[in-house]
Amino acid sequence: MTIEPIAWDGDRLRLLDQTLLPVEEAWLELTNHNEVVEAINSMRVRGAPAIGVAGAYGIALAALSSAGSDLDALLTDLRSAADQLIATRPTGVNLAWAVERTLAAAQAAGGLEEARQVALNEALRIQREDIDGNKALGQHGLELVPERATVLTHCNAGALATAGYGTALGVVRAAVEAGKQIDVVATETRPLSQGARLTSWELLRDGIACRLIVDSAAGPLLQRGDADLVVVGADRIAANGDTANKIGTYTIAVLAREHGVPFYVAAPTSTIDMSLPSGDGIAIEERSADEVTKVGGKRIAREDVQVFNPAFDVTPHDLIAAIITERGIARPPFVDALQDLTR
Ligand code: MRU
Repeated sequence: MTIEPIAWDGDRLRLLDQTLLPVEEAWLELTNHNEVVEAINSMRVRGAPAIGVAGAYGIALAALSSAGSDLDALLTDLRSAADQLIATRPTGVNLAWAVERTLAAAQAAGGLEEARQVALNEALRIQREDIDGNKALGQHGLELVPERATVLTHCNAGALATAGYGTALGVVRAAVEAGKQIDVVATETRPLSQGARLTSWELLRDGIACRLIVDSAAGPLLQRGDADLVVVGADRIAANGDTANKIGTYTIAVLAREHGVPFYVAAPTSTIDMSLPSGDGIAIEERSADEVTKVGGKRIAREDVQVFNPAFDVTPHDLIAAIITERGIARPPFVDALQDLTR
């Protein structure tokens, strides 16, 4: 079975520690929201939808472990936990969406015990919806994938980045399940190597052909006509279709346009942020210089070098051929199409 990296186990959250893959498959057991905050900050769980699901469980854990003696006290604790969770990673919108949704469910409860139960039920529902949504998204994406195709993808928008099945890799999985001849080219994805460590791991585990390239090989690959389509995930999509995704996505989109290869984004509608008219308003997370100056914990650059390390970039909507969601495919003009899908 395709890996599902998040599991609720009675009174605790189990997370597959993605920082240790592919060398070690170790599961964490988290019993309070502070541990969830740590897991998101250190990218033990990563990928916008997976972070959202973990955040929802963070609220459920806060509800279960709160010492609040009445509903008001519990809700005060939950608001504070929500703020801490949402502050961990600013670019992906799924986190705030899932945390606020779980909190709102607790706020609508009539009493303390009901609020605890309702928060947990909501987190379970968000997790289930994510997997079901990815499978639906994969089915919608089928029409964009030829019978024989090489798919170029970036970062990891797979089962590991979601509750299961994946978004970009959900499209790949659906195509393979439909009997299409698919092989995937995964970019390494510096600096944290999600492509090398995670995408190739989960695809090979499921028996899906995968070749790994360094990020800078995407140009010659597309130039030689060695990829038929590009499919990537998203962390936040503005109302006009501008899409924030892992740093390096924009470069691939420009290369795809240059070489006439269609560039698709696959994401659940929870990744669409209709409050932002364009990608200009998307906050881009900057991460530690160590991620650039070290590889696998080993220093490769002088300690005193200046570093610029944005974790994401924004691909302008005019480079995107279609956005594949669980509710259907949005095509340009995205302003209208995304409005319809999120109504
Ligand atoms: O920094 P990460 O590993 O959390 O970034 C992940 C990505 O950019 C993914 O492509 C995106 O979240 C979509 S995952 C379905």
